[in-house]
Amino acid sequence: MTSSVLVLPGDGIGPEITVEAVKVLNALNKSDNLDIVISEDLVGGAAYDVHGVPLTDQTMQKAKDADAILLGAVGGYKWESLDIAVRPEKGLLRLRSEMQLFANLRPAYLFAQLADSSTLKPEVVAGLDMLIVRELTGGIYFGQPRGIRTLENGERQGYNTYVYAEAEIKRIAHVAFNAAMKRGKKLTSVDKANVLEVTELWREIMDEVAKYYPEVELKHMYVDNAAMQLVLNPKQFDVIVTGNMFGDILSDQASMLTGSIGMLASASLDANNKGMYEPSHGSAPDIAGKNIANPLATILSAAMMLRYSLKREDLALKIENAVASVLDKGLRTGDIWSEGMTKVSTSEIGDAVVDCL
Ligand code: IPM
Ligand code: MG
Repeated sequence: MTSSVLVLPGDGIGPEITVEAVKVLNALNKSDNLDIVISEDLVGGAAYDVHGVPLTDQTMQKAKDADAILLGAVGGYKWESLDIAVRPEKGLLRLRSEMQLFANLRPAYLFAQLADSSTLKPEVVAGLDMLIVRELTGGIYFGQPRGIRTLENGERQGYNTYVYAEAEIKRIAHVAFNAAMKRGKKLTSVDKANVLEVTELWREIMDEVAKYYPEVELKHMYVDNAAMQLVLNPKQFDVIVTGNMFGDILSDQASMLTGSIGMLASASLDANNKGMYEPSHGSAPDIAGKNIANPLATILSAAMMLRYSLKREDLALKIENAVASVLDKGLRTGDIWSEGMTKVSTSEIGDAVVDCL
């Protein structure tokens, strides 16, 4: 059966890295009867420049109609002074929110070949294989009320609201426990329950849901401690579940354990495993257009797409093995380069993955 994939390259390095992932998908179309039809559209600053909004209703509809979405990255200096309502990031947040992609899976997996690329000692990160499950459509990112208001004394005050309803916590808890069941059966729920009531409720619901998964060992950890433990002893973690903002921060931190943020893929799923797939990193405007960005996180995100939305575990593994082979050959983009390795460009490493499929 033919599946449709919408590619939204976005801004900065987005177009360069998604092209490489599309190369890989097209190659599988030919070699393995993948049978997907790829279409492309604008998101972020690229959409703003043409349409005056970071995501048009038409593109939103196309995203809803597609079987899966592959997104590059959004944002850049050029659009930083725009009103917050039309900033590139809003396009991405609208996609996540309207499609109810509440479960963001960010696997921090260290390819053994990259143990020397991390800024942490190889013995600290060698063998690292953890999964961050980040709630993606609630929390302080979306809570109302929000804004900047003027107080009686004339001073301005910025405010956001950190809210989670029980149902929102429950559904992400089930995703996390299910993921833990398929992995090492250890789940760490990260909160700030010593200070914030919203995460006190989060903790209570996690304990409730834990009763359905007696085989999973559940631990609670405050976010400040989790940040420390991630660099002190990252291998203690199997699955981490946390809210939107803590997950945003901890996943960037965890990415460095894998050698580079250029290695961290992600899947954002709804209740039916329909999803949007994107690298966890940003648009890196400083290196955009230079053909030096690392496309592997995007290529690995395409692998996650095959696994979760298109139900082709065989091809997901094929891509992951091809990435491992490319690393075996010593090919590295600048961000993961180390002494003795061959430095290659964005397109060269993409071609190499296709060759290794
Ligand atoms: C991410 C990004 C986004 C986020 C930005 C671009 C809105 O940092 O996917 O982690 O904060 O969620
Ligand atoms: Mg982020």
